[in-house]
Amino acid sequence: MNSFIFSSMEQYDYENIVFCQEKTLGLKAIIVIHDTTLGPAAGGIRMWPYETEQEAINDALRLARGMTYKNAAAGLACGGGKCVIIGDPKRDKNEALLRGLARFIQRLGGIFLTGVDVGTTLQDMEVMRQESPYIVTVPESWGGPGDSAGATAFGVFQGIRACLKERFGSPLPQGRAIAVQGVGAVGKELVRYLAETGAMVTIADIDQEKAQAVGAQYHVNVAAPEEIHRLDVDVYSPCAMGAVLNDRSLEELRCKIVCGSANNQLAEDRHGDMLYQKEILYAPDYIVSAGGVICGMDSMNPGGFNRQRAMEKVAQIYRTMGNVIAISQAQNIPTYRAADVLAEQRIASVRQAKSIAMGGA
Ligand code: NAI
Repeated sequence: MNSFIFSSMEQYDYENIVFCQEKTLGLKAIIVIHDTTLGPAAGGIRMWPYETEQEAINDALRLARGMTYKNAAAGLACGGGKCVIIGDPKRDKNEALLRGLARFIQRLGGIFLTGVDVGTTLQDMEVMRQESPYIVTVPESWGGPGDSAGATAFGVFQGIRACLKERFGSPLPQGRAIAVQGVGAVGKELVRYLAETGAMVTIADIDQEKAQAVGAQYHVNVAAPEEIHRLDVDVYSPCAMGAVLNDRSLEELRCKIVCGSANNQLAEDRHGDMLYQKEILYAPDYIVSAGGVICGMDSMNPGGFNRQRAMEKVAQIYRTMGNVIAISQAQNIPTYRAADVLAEQRIASVRQAKSIAMGGA
């Protein structure tokens, strides 16, 4: 049998794909459950005008598997999943469509927990929450964590500290030169943490007005967007878009550490190998950008979201990044591979523990 769906599922051992369709609402969505060894699959809802169904399925598969690794490495009791809605968020999104999707998620009975991603907002989650408690990233007034950018920035800050400790023997950002690319929701908060701890920060954003405003607010330098990655700094922190670590940029990097929130920073895995060869310490993006998902999952605790407890867990990203570095050194592998090893080890050990509970070997 020649099936692209089953062969894709077999390749990385996906558990379920759920197709959700409602003609009158124009709803076409795909929920992928990758792995539930550690607990219910958690991952956001992306809305995107995919050109083909195959493109949408492939994106959902890739993103769901990424969430398995991110959640496992973050020490969360959840597996990985993702939902994609086929459509243009500006044109096709409305209350009925969102509530319709939420009812499908409710029907899954809690094996899929979800929240915001590209193309969806906290307000959308508020709408969906009316249909299902499995929509977990909701505003604080609903007992959820609210906007996740602050927690994400705090996690990246912890990742930077862990990398500084490795490279310079001290985690203190004071006096360290740090270049932040993109001062949107996450980048701006990160600049605040860095400026408060006495780092020498330079920022850039394609939105010049935003860059100037953040520069003035935190008294930090502003560089041109095309310059930021090639500054001679201790840390380059990509907090804008993906694939910034590519053949061209790697020729130009002069930093000692790369640590930022942007998703999928490595254009290809081989760029992670190249960073390793160049002795630039790379903090894998999914390790240091886990603050948001950590907060989302905290709201599943009895009693709801507790900011202090959640931020204590986000602070553990410092230790997690240290563990990634330790695996990288012990096994002589690049950090992006070491992060995968860390996640895979945790999943394997919990699977083993569960097999004992089930009476297995
Ligand atoms: P955002 O959209 O609020 O900010 C991105 C900023 O980057 C904007 O100010 C934009 O003008 C700027 N930008 C875009 N292209 C640029 C370029 N070439 N050079 C310089 N600046 C550029 O997004 P947000 O929420 O701050 O997220 C930043 C990154 O972190 C994204 O890759 C996102 O996927 C990732 N991330 C965000 C999380 C969150 O909690 N918001 C969680 C995990 C990852």
